[in-house]
Amino acid sequence: MNTQDLLPIPGFDQDMFRRVVGHFASGVTVITTSHDGRLYGTTASAVSSLSMDPPMMLMCLNRSSSTHDAVRAAGIYVINILADHQEDLALRFGRKGADKFSGVGYTVSEHGGVPVLEDVLATITCVVTEAPQGGSHTVFFGQVVDARAASGNPLAYYRGAFGRLESVRELDTYRKVRRWVLSRSTPSGGELEIHNLVTALGAEPDDVFNSLVKLTTEGLVSRSDSGAFQVTPITAELSDGLYEGRAMIEAGVIASRAQGFDEGLLETLLQLTKDMEGIRCSADGSLRDFLELHSRFHQSLVRASGSSQLFESYRRLSIAGVWTEAWDDTDWRDLLDHAELSRLAEALRTGETDAAIDAVRAYTEQAKHFARLAIASRGGAV
Ligand SMILES: Cc1cc2nc3c(=O)[nH]c(=O)nc-3n(C[C@H](O)[C@H](O)[C@H](O)COP(=O)(O)O)c2cc1C
Repeated sequence: MNTQDLLPIPGFDQDMFRRVVGHFASGVTVITTSHDGRLYGTTASAVSSLSMDPPMMLMCLNRSSSTHDAVRAAGIYVINILADHQEDLALRFGRKGADKFSGVGYTVSEHGGVPVLEDVLATITCVVTEAPQGGSHTVFFGQVVDARAASGNPLAYYRGAFGRLESVRELDTYRKVRRWVLSRSTPSGGELEIHNLVTALGAEPDDVFNSLVKLTTEGLVSRSDSGAFQVTPITAELSDGLYEGRAMIEAGVIASRAQGFDEGLLETLLQLTKDMEGIRCSADGSLRDFLELHSRFHQSLVRASGSSQLFESYRRLSIAGVWTEAWDDTDWRDLLDHAELSRLAEALRTGETDAAIDAVRAYTEQAKHFARLAIASRGGAV
């Protein structure tokens, strides 16, 4: 059946379809070719590997694209896979225009004399074998005649916006190294040796190194003159700054939620404050469990922003791990309660934004005070 003969589904909402399809994350490429002495290029995300034996790719171009006609005529094209800093190229080639290549570095492929962009993450040169039509597009099946890759990270495209991929393995290592540092598995001021962490955490050396660099930017790790990584002692100033940063994010999330929070979240927050009460009142309730509920409360709130970036920034400001080590298990009940969090949960339920932000501030002051006492009791640094 020819897909062009298919009738549109009556009442089918194209905007909705575009939004739903946008949930499929992809990389970003620029398809280049040349024809009749002219260079052509268009940004394309509808690209996929098709077969290993023989090596084949497919890519889909709208028939209204001038690059489409040039690829058809030339019978050869290059898929230039963009790196994460090449959003400008994606935008430049995503528009119509005769001078797309001006100021862009490129070489000309041995095979077919097609422009190959410089400094991209990878290039794959293909010869068109078939070009069937699908709706408004042509699907170009291409046999691979050349393929090269450089090091770097890909530019991603998701729900109409460019982004960066975060490797799950790297993120996992970062979280483990952070936990290691905060739990003082290497004592405060001590040296963090990469090969020890690699063995202890079962991680890749590069990931451990990158995690330590990230923790350096967060102020939790420092580098000595010889370049060694060391656990930075946490002082009152550092701890105050982190709590204030977190409060700012929470207040921002609350203020931006004029339409309110969903019922499920409000119930979760209230339940968490009840569970905190249970732990505080029970003789064998531990500070670790209490702080775990605190974390869950705050994280649930920030997660409601819907922004994974904001949520990750928020997590990076947490130093809760050090307090379980810094306090012995007896005295925390007098210093840390959940009254402000209950007030916050209630204010969110009744939609009182000012009262909710007030509770965030009051809670933050209490947390800062708690942290300062722990730090002072350890001689000014933990
Ligand atoms: C991120 C992104 C992805 C795109 N993906 C495709 C695609 O897969 N196929 C396509 O035909 N157009 C795609 N486009 C749109 C074309 O790049 C755009 O229509 C361009 O102006 C065509 O230029 P041309 O007529 O010079 O070939 C994409 C644009 C952007 C910004």
